[in-house]
Amino acid sequence: MAEILKTARLVLRAPDEGDIDRLVELAGDYEVSKMLAVVPHPYERDHAEDWIAHCGEVAGDEERSFAIDDGNGLIGAVSFRRLRESPRIGYWLGRPYWGMGYMSEAAHAALTWLFSVHDVTSVVAEAMRDNPASIAVLRKLGFADDGEGSCDSRARGAALPSLQLRLQRNAFLTTTQAVAGGQAGKELIG
Ligand SMILES: CC(C)(COP(=O)(O)OP(=O)(O)OC[C@H]1O[C@@H](n2cnc3c(N)ncnc32)[C@H](O)[C@@H]1OP(=O)(O)O)[C@@H](O)C(=O)NCCC(=O)NCCS
Repeated sequence: MAEILKTARLVLRAPDEGDIDRLVELAGDYEVSKMLAVVPHPYERDHAEDWIAHCGEVAGDEERSFAIDDGNGLIGAVSFRRLRESPRIGYWLGRPYWGMGYMSEAAHAALTWLFSVHDVTSVVAEAMRDNPASIAVLRKLGFADDGEGSCDSRARGAALPSLQLRLQRNAFLTTTQAVAGGQAGKELIG
């Protein structure tokens, strides 16, 4: 059974069909999808249904996605790909939920899960250069710059300059006190 992660304000759980309306509404916002690699714009109901089905098929194996829920429904998602090799984190929040520390809190919980459950030494991330908020989130979590790149944006129909970052297990463990609203180490895995 998929784990449920709890933070001070959020629950991270398996996405399900009850999330489809919220997905269409929140991931359908171009200001969200333009920062993501594979999310199309416009984002239709079929896309949300396909993503939910995909999450169910791959859960626990090569990939893991968590719906981020504030108690009133899905507000975003955080995912890991390539879990067996070099895990790669991706995430987004609906625009009404930006700027409140939610992603720092959610990503911290997800990374705590990753390093607890998987015997990996590091996790990688890639943010477009025009996405300072995401780069700030990653650096707060202990990610260090790991090179320049180019990242496809399906929504923009273009490849954008990007920053690649890497979080070492040890760096994460030593920076946990600085994030998650002082809730570091208090996440529960149920
Ligand atoms: C990126 C995203 C997840 C951030 O979520 P969030 O909950 O607002 O992030 P947090 O509030 O936890 O932290 C944001 C940090 O960025 C900082 N920030 C925000 N806008 C910034 C800007 N223009 N320049 C520099 N820093 C900025 C904030 O000050 C905050 O840092 P602080 O806590 O040290 O003050 C959200 O904006 C989002 O979903 N965007 C669209 C999708 C996306 O970009 N996904 C990531 C792809 S790599």
